[in-house]
Amino acid sequence: MRIRDIVITGNPVLHRPSAPVPRVDNHVKELVEDMFATMELAPGVGLAAPQIGEDYALFVYDWVDDDGTQHRGVAINPTLLLEPPSIDPLDDIEELEGCLSVPGERFPLRRSDRVILTATNLDGNEYTIHAQGWLARIFQHEYDHLLGVLYVDRLTEPHLTEARDAIHRDGWGVPGYSWLPGRDHLEG
Ligand code: NI
Repeated sequence: MRIRDIVITGNPVLHRPSAPVPRVDNHVKELVEDMFATMELAPGVGLAAPQIGEDYALFVYDWVDDDGTQHRGVAINPTLLLEPPSIDPLDDIEELEGCLSVPGERFPLRRSDRVILTATNLDGNEYTIHAQGWLARIFQHEYDHLLGVLYVDRLTEPHLTEARDAIHRDGWGVPGYSWLPGRDHLEG
């Protein structure tokens, strides 16, 4: 197991669809171990393979809800069904989202409140999770990574322009930047 560099927006691997995982072999299992360790140290509640430069359609997540229930797993070759999102005004606090590949920034984004995730686990078995609230948001965020979409790509104005300005100001949005959890102290 090793901590992996997290690539920053502008790296092409973040902006294209990921390749399906052909089979869950030892290489994939080692990759998933690296991803859990990297996510934990970052720290983050989700991490997709493209974020460590790996062109695989898989993500990991680990989040504890308000009741203390831990939601932790691996989603290999996932599909996601979304309930239509609310049309209420955006809440600039409650709907703040961040990403380890856009470190230090947060912007509000409307997501669907309910989703259905279907994916394969490390044993090669398919499972389905009906998720709501923040877990649904995590799944949408990580699933987007596998489509080559970052949450900042989905922002509405004025946040879209704010995000573009911030990324430009930080010097990102071009290939070649990454950070290493445990060495570089950035926040997702
Ligand atoms: Ni992200």
